[in-house]
Amino acid sequence: MKNDTLRPQDLFWRVRIFDALSFPSVIIDLEKSVVGANKKFYDTYKLTPEDILGKKCYHSFLYKNTPCKSQDCPISRVIENKEAHSYTLKRQYKWEERVFSPIFDDHQEVAYVLSSIRDITRTKSLESQLIGVKEFITRVIYSSASAIVAADRSGRIELMNSVAKELFGAYNGGEGSITHTEQLYPPGKAKEIMRMLRDEKIGGRGKLIIPKTTIVNAKGEEVEVEMSAAIIYDENGNESATMAIYNDLKDKIKVEKELKKTQKQLAQSEKMASLGQLAAGVAHEINNPLTGVLFYASLLLERPDLDDDAKADLTYIVEDANRCKNIVKSLLVYSRSTDSNKRIVHINEIVDQSLKLVRDQKKFRNIQVRRFLDDEMMLIHADVSKLNQVIINLIINAADVMKGNGKISLSTYRDKPNKKVFLEVKDTGEGIPRENLSKIFDPFFTTKEVGKSTGLGLSIVYGIIEEHGGRISVKETGTKGTTFIIEFPMYVPSEDGPHFCDPPGSA
Ligand SMILES: Nc1ncnc2c1ncn2[C@@H]1O[C@H](COP(=O)(O)OP(=O)(O)O)[C@@H](O)[C@H]1O
Ligand SMILES: [Mg+2]
Repeated sequence: MKNDTLRPQDLFWRVRIFDALSFPSVIIDLEKSVVGANKKFYDTYKLTPEDILGKKCYHSFLYKNTPCKSQDCPISRVIENKEAHSYTLKRQYKWEERVFSPIFDDHQEVAYVLSSIRDITRTKSLESQLIGVKEFITRVIYSSASAIVAADRSGRIELMNSVAKELFGAYNGGEGSITHTEQLYPPGKAKEIMRMLRDEKIGGRGKLIIPKTTIVNAKGEEVEVEMSAAIIYDENGNESATMAIYNDLKDKIKVEKELKKTQKQLAQSEKMASLGQLAAGVAHEINNPLTGVLFYASLLLERPDLDDDAKADLTYIVEDANRCKNIVKSLLVYSRSTDSNKRIVHINEIVDQSLKLVRDQKKFRNIQVRRFLDDEMMLIHADVSKLNQVIINLIINAADVMKGNGKISLSTYRDKPNKKVFLEVKDTGEGIPRENLSKIFDPFFTTKEVGKSTGLGLSIVYGIIEEHGGRISVKETGTKGTTFIIEFPMYVPSEDGPHFCDPPGSA
């Protein structure tokens, strides 16, 4: 040690600097005795030089009274490693950082250790506040009902909350997992969004709300969402990240569709109801004179003095009047003026019965009729003969459109939770043109040859289904064929009432 080589003025400054340090500091020698302390130290701990100078650090240095175990004695570590060492410590309500720095001699050997104590209570409290805020924000993000995605400037995804992972079908590390914002959209869309975000005229600087747009999930499927996006700027106003919030529109779209469908059905049933009234009125009015026409024409036909021409004409009159009679009869069925005779019956039974009725008709010779009837219990409260009419009407229409060649499939199934029973009639015909879809259930609407068909079939079907508390609609139609779907309320025997399904004699 060559402290004697220090000029007095250097020593003077060094002591001054030591005293000027704003942290309480002490100098400890290799034997761990305190050889000096600065003014801040004495002031902070209300000590005098007599209290500490020459004492072992562990006696006088505000710690425990025993030496630290050698492996965790910070002073030993500094001496051994020749480099500074620090640790934090909680004393009562305060946090301290204790920093130990080596003081080297001329041979670069550690001669003393300078130990200073910094009060970091405030830093610590800010740090824990920060951690608290961060945890809070994380919880907010992760418990949000919306999908949230954040990405860095380059588009690399930094955060995806659980709803976002579900929406995009991206599970970290999993197959098809999503790592870049470009994967979230159809090609080119991510760039387009960034362009709009930067355009102050759209939504304001760095902000964007798109009520309806498309994203792409990990499976490559497009999903419609409502989206709001933002650019996150740093304190200098530079772009540092982006974030977006998405809400899946699936449920909203479903509700809207459902609403539209209901409105349409309502309009349709209103139309049918008024047409029904009209039809019933007309049918009644025509029925009486028609009976008269038929009666007198039949009487005339029986006259022996008729020549052949008159006989032929009269036969036409009777035939046509009979046709009118049938139409009137159909109209009366459609307008629900005939009595119904309902019982509880398995839907498959009705299908089978209807099929028996058409089986041997010439029209069906080259048509393959297939049954896909579910084995589940599917009871409905129904007038069997009227539902036979429904099924027969549907399959005759199907046979007509397929011009005697093709396949007709009848399927039944149920939706137990919603207590519904379904019947579908599918054909492989040429489909129903879009412009006709709203008219096919109207009475007298037909695309078939005049005189061949009445156009009453589907309107009667509609009336009968309504009478059963059910609904009929076109499920799909196109060049590959048409599927009609009928929905019935399912009959569910009550728990304590007579059990419909009990085997006979099991009481
Ligand atoms: N399965 C079907 N495929 C294509 N068009 C159909 C089908 N069923 C009905 N249609 C259309 O609906 C119209 C009305 O049917 P409907 O009321 O039974 O009267 P009709 O059979 O006397 O024409 C038919 O003329 C036809 O244009
Ligand atoms: Mg028909």
